[in-house]
Amino acid sequence: MILACVTLAGGASSAPAETPSAVTSHEVVLANVIPRPADVTPRAGEFLLHDQAEIFAKDVEAVRIAAYLGELLESTEHITLKVVQHPVAAKARAAIALRLDPTAAGGAPEGYAIEVTPSQILLTAAKPRGLFYGVVSLWQLVSAKAASGPGIAIPAMRIVDAPRLPWRGLMLDSARHFQSPEFIMRYIDWLALHKLNVFGWHLTDDQGWRLEIKRYPRLTGVGAWRVPAGRAAERDIDPATHRSRLYGGFYSEADVRRIVAHAAARYVTVVPEIDMPGHASAAIVAYPELGVVAPPPAVPADWGIYPNLFNVEESTFAFLDHVLAEVIALFPGPYVHLGGDEAVKDQWLASARIAARMRELGVKDVEALQGYFTHRMGEYLRAHGRRLVGWDEILAGGVPKDAIIVSWRGIEGAIEAAKSGRDAVLSPAPTLYFDNRQSGGPLEPPGRGKVVTLEDVYRFDPLPAALSPDRQYVLGLEANVWTEHVRTEERVAYMTWPRAAAVSEVGWSSGERLDWSDFLSRLPAEFDRYRLLGIHYADEVFQERPSVAPYARHMSQDLKTCTDHLVLNLEDDAPLEGPRAVFLIDIANPCWIFPSVDFTSRMHLTAAVGQLPFNFQIGKDREAIHFKTPHSAAGELEVRLDGCEGDPLVTLPLAPAADNDAVTVLPSVALPEVAGRHDLCFTFTQRTLDPLWAIDWVQVSR
Ligand code: ACM
Repeated sequence: MILACVTLAGGASSAPAETPSAVTSHEVVLANVIPRPADVTPRAGEFLLHDQAEIFAKDVEAVRIAAYLGELLESTEHITLKVVQHPVAAKARAAIALRLDPTAAGGAPEGYAIEVTPSQILLTAAKPRGLFYGVVSLWQLVSAKAASGPGIAIPAMRIVDAPRLPWRGLMLDSARHFQSPEFIMRYIDWLALHKLNVFGWHLTDDQGWRLEIKRYPRLTGVGAWRVPAGRAAERDIDPATHRSRLYGGFYSEADVRRIVAHAAARYVTVVPEIDMPGHASAAIVAYPELGVVAPPPAVPADWGIYPNLFNVEESTFAFLDHVLAEVIALFPGPYVHLGGDEAVKDQWLASARIAARMRELGVKDVEALQGYFTHRMGEYLRAHGRRLVGWDEILAGGVPKDAIIVSWRGIEGAIEAAKSGRDAVLSPAPTLYFDNRQSGGPLEPPGRGKVVTLEDVYRFDPLPAALSPDRQYVLGLEANVWTEHVRTEERVAYMTWPRAAAVSEVGWSSGERLDWSDFLSRLPAEFDRYRLLGIHYADEVFQERPSVAPYARHMSQDLKTCTDHLVLNLEDDAPLEGPRAVFLIDIANPCWIFPSVDFTSRMHLTAAVGQLPFNFQIGKDREAIHFKTPHSAAGELEVRLDGCEGDPLVTLPLAPAADNDAVTVLPSVALPEVAGRHDLCFTFTQRTLDPLWAIDWVQVSR
């Protein structure tokens, strides 16, 4: 559905009357711009963009931005522009002219204005970054059309545009899984083409330290490498070392300089995250003197929350200062994110040495100790011209007034921050957690089990009523691509796009212009551009999910988990090469319901099962996971009728699957004759948590 341009123009009803055909071409062209521009006024006529057209700009930076438009048009539309540096760019008779003008778009620092007339396209902005965003819009306008005849026709119009929120971010976790520097640069390109302006870069965590620090080479020499969880990886012996092959990687100083320069050219601020005092296992494995207790023997591969915290010795603060000195030298942006999330205090509470340090420092409890930690590191940053960013947990122990709070446990952290006069960024789980699946289908890549659709993201309100008294403290929003379950670059892209396009529009376009069905109408053009750019995106929003025929294979995603405690869509750890199964499983209660099976005649049951490493740090929740006791060494898959208690209807021994790290189809069994429709419940017997048995698919057939 395409809405009339007058609707898009929002208040442009004074526009001159258009012929029907001109209106149609405006609709087609404007229907392509994401995020939706603030103000569009149609004019009469059209501009024809020819191959070899000249684009004039005066200032060096404007020339560079003009050249970027040239690159975009060349690579996606096969039009070549001739970029000319010209002292009076706007007056010149160039096809396209770029000009800095302090009054353009009311002087908004990211704003721009585009005037398309039959003779010229004039793009003006107060700042180069506004010119850049204007160029992105121009590219989208052009991408509306296939070249036909003498050139690409762009309807005459005036666009005046500026964002409503200054912080429009996307965070990528490069610690849990590593992405190449080349991918990071492409990813930053894609952010910029959505007018997103903050790249949060999660560089350190329990499972990997990814940033080269010259002073402490073991951070990456040791801390960037781990043996992935599971038997398949353990059995994957590296001939060079005769040990299990290590997974990992890190960004050298040179990589980071390249990435940061690339981001600057795209007007994207990189916010590095060095997580402390928790999520610190990899650093502590590399330098055990940083820890409270003896570290694990190697960089660990579990997901979840490890208890390993940095200690609070003076030598540890000196270490962290030295690390931050290098971080500051590498990242010229104004912000450094120090994490501060999920720092469970068990180790601090149990340590006599920590208690002694707390007395020395005059700190009353472990929450206040994290506050001391945050203040101290924040002071270091302030002294070096940087602002501290932290997850909302840092509010608990007290935070510097100039800290920026990223609210992820809902929006309460942002409300609390704003009430105390602190800036906040909204990043709430689950809506802005792009490790969640975006549909419930069986072809969805691994991720968290909750389904967060494109529409869910689009309907996220970054300025809800609860924040309206303090809205000046809401800097913006940021979506997070955590990568525990997102192993490949292709999947990072898939989890990100188009949901980040929704973030872009929600962050850029003013609230009254947000219209889900209008956004949907602009998506096909967006997807065309994704294909031209080589972005592996999710097109779930346009897919009908067919219902599964009653006697066909039901994948785990087609079944219901018995409970919703900790549902994940987990990838098998095997085979090492090639496609792996993905199991939807509640790891706190592995149990599946096949609802309303029609037992019209004598039925057979076939089940395919896999084994997953239980690599989850879930603290005491682990003790609440119980299994029925096996009757054989390998255990059994038990199938019950109308509930999950009582005697099984049938039992399938797991012996045929015991030594297979990948999926095993168990021999079919005949089901006892029962009439009518019944739910079937599937559970496994097992003695230990690891490995965890999982259903891949089940089939009931005649
Ligand atoms: C977080 O998800 N631990 C910020």
